[in-house]
Amino acid sequence: MATTCLVDGIRGHLNKEDCVQLFNMGKNLPDHATVIEIGSLRGLSSYMIYKGTKQAGKSCRIFCIDLWDPENLTVESGIPDKYILDDAYNSFLSLIIDRQLPLIPLRGHSDMFASCFEKESIDFIFIDGDHSYAQTKHDLENYFPLLKKEGVCYIHDCMYKSNVNIALYDFSKTYKIKIKSLKNTHGMFAIMNYIPAEVQKDMDKEAILSPNCLVQVDYDT
Ligand SMILES: C[S@@+](CC[C@H](N)C(=O)[O-])C[C@H]1O[C@@H](n2cnc3c(N)ncnc32)[C@H](O)[C@@H]1O
Repeated sequence: MATTCLVDGIRGHLNKEDCVQLFNMGKNLPDHATVIEIGSLRGLSSYMIYKGTKQAGKSCRIFCIDLWDPENLTVESGIPDKYILDDAYNSFLSLIIDRQLPLIPLRGHSDMFASCFEKESIDFIFIDGDHSYAQTKHDLENYFPLLKKEGVCYIHDCMYKSNVNIALYDFSKTYKIKIKSLKNTHGMFAIMNYIPAEVQKDMDKEAILSPNCLVQVDYDT
């Protein structure tokens, strides 16, 4: 059973606490932050980050990397039904256009885009793409060096003994990083060099829904 969640009419593969953690991260980002997301689907995760920045009166731009390719699906991409993905790109584009969101779609394999960004230039990275061991490790190796010293990376679906979890563990052996599990999320972990105090405080909070972060959660496949 996959957990899906509906926020402001946008459906995504996140649970309520995932949404709140992304929203809180958005709130804590610096003004004019640059964010990279790997695995956007219809845009719920990027929307939650944006919603947090908006609530805090800040602006941001979010580069959204996704294959958006029904012909190039692996079981481990987490999307079992090609027809679900088929209209995901259109839904994503409509989201940007209808709501005027600062999301920049980069359609293609995540390996293609890391070299487009400068090292230590990114404030926040969210990894929720291919969940295989090899690709998770590539994504970490390619994208983590792009983070600013005080930047934070969240990785999703990192459940105990999953491919993503083992890849993160192996990655942590070669990089000096701090890793923190985020309570009640669907295996969301924070990876960083240094955690600012206010970010740490929000990571430790349970989901408390403010009126600006209303999340309706349901569970289906
Ligand atoms: C679990 S979904 C992402 C869910 C999304 N974050 C949300 O809020 O609903 C995983 C996505 O990763 C994409 N993906 C899988 N492998 C990828 C790769 N190597 N490069 C880019 N995108 C990839 C899939 O197309 C799929 O849309």
